[in-house]
Amino acid sequence: MTDEIRKGLAGVVADTTAVSKVNPETNSLLYRGYPVQELAANLSFEEVALLLWNGELPSATERDEFVEFERAHRRLDDAVRTAIDLLPTDCHPMDVGRTAVSVIGANDAESEVSTPEVELRKAKELFAKFPAVVAYDQRRRRGLEPIEPRDDLDYSQNFLWMTFGEEAAPEVVEAFRVSMVLYAEHSFNASTFTARVVTSTLSDLHSAVTAAIGALKGSLHGGANEAVMHTFEEIGIDPDESREDAAARAKAWMEDALAKKKKVMGFGHRVYKNGDSRVPTMKDALDAMVEHYGRQEMMGLYDGLEAAMSEAKGILPNLDYPAGPTYHLMGFDTEMFTPLFIASRITGWTAHIREQRADNSLIRPVSAYSGPDERHL
Ligand code: ACO
Repeated sequence: MTDEIRKGLAGVVADTTAVSKVNPETNSLLYRGYPVQELAANLSFEEVALLLWNGELPSATERDEFVEFERAHRRLDDAVRTAIDLLPTDCHPMDVGRTAVSVIGANDAESEVSTPEVELRKAKELFAKFPAVVAYDQRRRRGLEPIEPRDDLDYSQNFLWMTFGEEAAPEVVEAFRVSMVLYAEHSFNASTFTARVVTSTLSDLHSAVTAAIGALKGSLHGGANEAVMHTFEEIGIDPDESREDAAARAKAWMEDALAKKKKVMGFGHRVYKNGDSRVPTMKDALDAMVEHYGRQEMMGLYDGLEAAMSEAKGILPNLDYPAGPTYHLMGFDTEMFTPLFIASRITGWTAHIREQRADNSLIRPVSAYSGPDERHL
């Protein structure tokens, strides 16, 4: 055993995984061997979920069966609604998501069963139900009645329907689906590793996902998509401003922030140092939303910040950077962005939980003691 301390476990290879491969040299991300861009261009989010869980693309029958299952499990149980209703409307929506998963777990008749079949069933149910958690919470914060799911709509269409109460335009559904595919999986990131640590103690799937949500909440991880929007809001969003003017203001803001040595959320990545492989695809989705909603000033802010960061420090955007303004344009409240990340990442987390379970070893690193030498009272 080496005594070398790797703060933040940076560069430590903690285990193998067959779920995804992140290659920072080639800027590529593969889910089960398939480039994420190809999946985002060609598959439904439901198909990508099956790929992550099972390791192979689903057959048409497997896909159809899952689509039927997903549509049949979208409704929230009364226990979950009641639990959410007990939470303040001004608490963070990530707290609502964390609580909802915990309640769903406690009400699962097989909560203590962790066979592969039962865990897959639990993963599929969480996948189906979590959109209703987000939509329910978004609406209650706006003082609106919940909207029941519609089983004639696909996952993304229904998600937007339950949230906003109207059928979203195809371009919006498409951008939303792409974001779900891109956020689904990213190897041993902090929240996935958390889920694996919890699973390694032989705890249950819902406990692992609940813990992962706690890890995702932080602004150095999933909370960054929300933080990006706070930056845009701090700079000031004016739909009547020209793209050029917005870009100039954003550039000035970034120069000032960097002079003050601020960390600007949505930039940088622990693994990718030459650009996040998911950004170009998400940026296309943002472009489509800017076009759809006629909001060129949003792209001005985006370009201005990106250019100034690149010039000053050569640091590139991560996925949260284009995702934040995309969700804003769709109409989600800023605080709801990270729960949207949960809805997607449930797939990756649960794929890793299954993998950890299949070949388990308790995750328990050691520490180098840095306190006082032995002393006595
Ligand atoms: N803004 C300003 N400076 C930055 C940023 C940033 N976003 N990111 C890195 N840097 C600078 C650091 O200040 C540091 O500079 P220094 O050497 O002069 O001190 C250098 O770049 C290295 O930064 P580290 O934080 O050591 O790099 P690390 O690999 O540990 O961090 C991290 C990666 C945590 C993601 C970091 O880039 C960051 O805090 N980014 C903002 C948060 C964010 O966007 N998170 C989302 C991650 S992606 C996701 O969850 C989908």
